[in-house]
Amino acid sequence: MKSICILAIESSCDDTSAAVYKDGKILSNCIASQVIHKEYGGVVPEVASRAHQANIVPVVSRALERAGVAKSDLSAIAFTRGPGLMGSLLVGVSFAKAMALSLDIPMIEVNHIQAHILAHFIDEPKPSFPFLCLTVSGGHTQIVRVNSPLEMEIMGTTIDDAAGEAFDKTGKLLGLDYPAGPIIDKLAKEGQVVFKFTEPNVPDLDFSFSGLKTNILQFLQKRVRKNPDFIQENLADICASVQARIVSILLKKLVQASEQTGIKEIAIAGGVSANSGLRAALAATGTKKSWQVFIPKFEYCTDNAAMIAMTAYYKYLEQDFVGHDITPLARYEF
Ligand code: KG4
Ligand code: ZN
Repeated sequence: MKSICILAIESSCDDTSAAVYKDGKILSNCIASQVIHKEYGGVVPEVASRAHQANIVPVVSRALERAGVAKSDLSAIAFTRGPGLMGSLLVGVSFAKAMALSLDIPMIEVNHIQAHILAHFIDEPKPSFPFLCLTVSGGHTQIVRVNSPLEMEIMGTTIDDAAGEAFDKTGKLLGLDYPAGPIIDKLAKEGQVVFKFTEPNVPDLDFSFSGLKTNILQFLQKRVRKNPDFIQENLADICASVQARIVSILLKKLVQASEQTGIKEIAIAGGVSANSGLRAALAATGTKKSWQVFIPKFEYCTDNAAMIAMTAYYKYLEQDFVGHDITPLARYEF
């Protein structure tokens, strides 16, 4: 059988990543993270696209070198088409076009969110179809029914902020660096759940986090008025309490989705799936509900090109290629 070798590029937000897939294996997954955004308290799109421009050639070269693959071995080039920041996506798409043209090989476009879900197929154990996936990142919070690698249905989504934004915005209120998700996760381990934050009342399988943000803001303002050192003195407990509430909001809807569909194979994906509170709560709920749970390796939770390569493999099997007139999509529902 002819060998399948795919170079994949991910540049949707603030990580420039390249990975090589060959015959069932990810041979390399290289990432250049842009720490510069810490100074601004969030991703600055203009700064992100310039950094991608600087990083992309070295990252792609490193990925090919680590994989021990020559450009002439490649069967196709895959890239993230969206969703994401337009200026960031443009760097990856343009690079992929130039490389595909020069090597005269096909291009494969990939939906970033679909790729987060298919990261579960990089290593064992792999879920079987259909399964449910809670996709939680900086821009998305969705419950997806995955019927086959490329056939997915969104059953519920956030009506305002994403779960990652809830972590990051809370971090801003607490004076933490960006992205605050991993920092809150770490601090929460040293704290207790002593403060009770609001639970949104959203119908069906949808989510809402903006009310929680307002509740946290008002809570902090009230406490700080009485004690200006309240945040410093209670930081770990505040983090533990906020994290517990975000996790309970997510788990409640996941239980509802499983009961509604009868599906007991449950996965999580996206940057927030790196959260230790969410991982522990999913494992505990899984045991209670007799679910088979799938929790990705840390390296495949946040943005990476290995997941783009994995998705591209399934598209390659269907010969699902795109033309050279392809453009990025800042908003891209599958
Ligand atoms: O998937 P991702 O890397 O990028 C997007 O596609 O958005 O997700 C980034 C988000 C950020 O909001 C970040 O704070 C959050 O994932 N995140 C975490 C953790 N690690 C990353 N949130 C909570 N706990 C973590 N350990
Ligand atoms: Zn992502």
